[in-house]
Amino acid sequence: DEGVVRRDRFSGGPARSFLSSLAADERIFQADLAVDRAHTVMLAEQGIVDDDVASEILTALDAIEVDGHGSLPDGEDVHEAIETAVIERVGPDGGKMHTARSRNDEVAACIRYRLREDVLAAIETTLALRESLVDVAEDGRETIMPGYTHLQPAQPTTVAHWALAYEGAVRRDTERLLEAYARINQSPLGGAAFAGTTFDIDRERTADLLGFDSVVENSMDASSSRDFLLETVQALSTHATTLSGLAEDVIIFANRGFVELSDDYSSTSSIMPQKKNPDTLELVRAVAGDAAGGVQGLTTTLKGLPRAYNRDLQRATTHAWETVDAVTEASEVAAGAVATADWNEGTLAAEAGAGFSTATGVADLLAANGLPFRTAHELVAIAAENGADEDALEAASQEVLGESLEAYVDPDAVADALDPAESVASRDSQGGPAPEAVDDQLEPAREALAA
Ligand code: ARG
Repeated sequence: DEGVVRRDRFSGGPARSFLSSLAADERIFQADLAVDRAHTVMLAEQGIVDDDVASEILTALDAIEVDGHGSLPDGEDVHEAIETAVIERVGPDGGKMHTARSRNDEVAACIRYRLREDVLAAIETTLALRESLVDVAEDGRETIMPGYTHLQPAQPTTVAHWALAYEGAVRRDTERLLEAYARINQSPLGGAAFAGTTFDIDRERTADLLGFDSVVENSMDASSSRDFLLETVQALSTHATTLSGLAEDVIIFANRGFVELSDDYSSTSSIMPQKKNPDTLELVRAVAGDAAGGVQGLTTTLKGLPRAYNRDLQRATTHAWETVDAVTEASEVAAGAVATADWNEGTLAAEAGAGFSTATGVADLLAANGLPFRTAHELVAIAAENGADEDALEAASQEVLGESLEAYVDPDAVADALDPAESVASRDSQGGPAPEAVDDQLEPAREALAA
């Protein structure tokens, strides 16, 4: 990291704009001012810079903030441009601001400072989505719907059970983002170029002034590691993957008339006047691709970088900004779309038993009445091919067991097992779709949200 004079000598050529991150650095303009202030205050407190010089620097930083990023002088990056602007206002003493630090620890501090705020915003959207899902679950405790595996009718379930499945996944997404946040929130400031400094700095003090929980101890680690970015982008990508599945489900449900999206979250066609399309959720689904691209881009940029600082790191950061923006927006839109959608109970109930989805329940009933489950499975499979009703079951019983089904099970119980609502009510195992089992899932979901 070089001084003003040598900067002019080395960075003014044809590669100037290629080298510069000034435009992209608008994102960390406020962060850099905060880092400059904390560092200046610490330098004054430690007696490294005189109080009156520190005070002039702080005044200049306030004026620079008012003028905004757009008024900065040209520079290789925001750090250089702000320093130049300080020197323009204060005179050569303004250059004392950069005592005992480097742009390497400075930029790392700025990224962490700004990313904290962005990750908190992302976490907020996961909470809003979980709230929407919990609300859907509360309303849909008894709303029977078809459940699928391989996208084929599998077993009846409820809207609440479906919603809580995603709530659980999003809850873990929140946890992963919080874990990433904890490791973002550590101060690299004072690491200098990578090798520390001769000045008697107080790293705990700048960490404290900037609201960081702790210090990244090793100065080489502090100035050059970016695993906190990778961890964050990975957590965001995982959340985007959860969102893409949720979006896909709702798109399919809308296609089948199970759910109607509100107009606010739908689009129409420029040619087909009748169309109501789930475009918002299609874009939510697509953002998982952007996020996976962010992970890939960042990983590839970081892979094989030697310690300590390399300029490659400048291009690592943009992957994080792009990913956090895209995923936060997608999460917010998904929360709104879920919160405002209307579930069509009639269509859901009519479809819940389609494809003999109660077959497993009938097999369970026979097994509960003494038949080996494998024999019950075979019997019900034969009935499934021959009409999937009581008559078909009786015929299958004659074929497989050589006697009436009534020898094993009460016909009323069979009728119940064939009813989708009864089928759901009977599956009250822990985590199952029966309304009481769902209540046991709702409570911790609400509690986790409140926490
Ligand atoms: N703008 C750079 C970045 O984003 C920080 C500058 C460090 N430059 C340097 N030549 N050491 O990483």
